[in-house]
Amino acid sequence: MGSEPLTRRRWIDVLLGTSFAAWMGAVVYPVLRYLTPARDGGGSNKATLTDAQKQELSAKGFLIARCGTDRVLLLKDKEQKLRALSAKCTHEGCTVQFVPADGIIWCACHNGKFSLDGRVISGPPPRPLAAFTVEGDLKGVVSVSKPGGMA
Ligand code: FES
Repeated sequence: MGSEPLTRRRWIDVLLGTSFAAWMGAVVYPVLRYLTPARDGGGSNKATLTDAQKQELSAKGFLIARCGTDRVLLLKDKEQKLRALSAKCTHEGCTVQFVPADGIIWCACHNGKFSLDGRVISGPPPRPLAAFTVEGDLKGVVSVSKPGGMA
């Protein structure tokens, strides 16, 4: 007799606890996800190369890829090390290209030239190309990301 109210109370506690957990999952979690900015991939700050992109990078020595809204120039330097820089010229925004024979990055719009670390060598560009972080190698996963987190 004395244990029946306790059992009912426990049952109600379990029911309330389960309801609260379900409410947290259904309402609070999506709201928090919406309010919290994406930290990685989410599409804006990080990109992973596809197999086709890795093959193109291997064959040509460079590739223009998307990383969120940015165009990124990925290239293999003389030591076969992967580098990634913004492909957007700092002069008027044309897309730059890698010239392996000269070991430079070149903007055809107004003959701007950059070194492989993005520094301006000659021409009208006022600033270096922004560096991106590249991780991995062509035998596995290659990802490129924008330093500094948020886009
Ligand atoms: S836009 Fe690149 S040099 Fe002018």
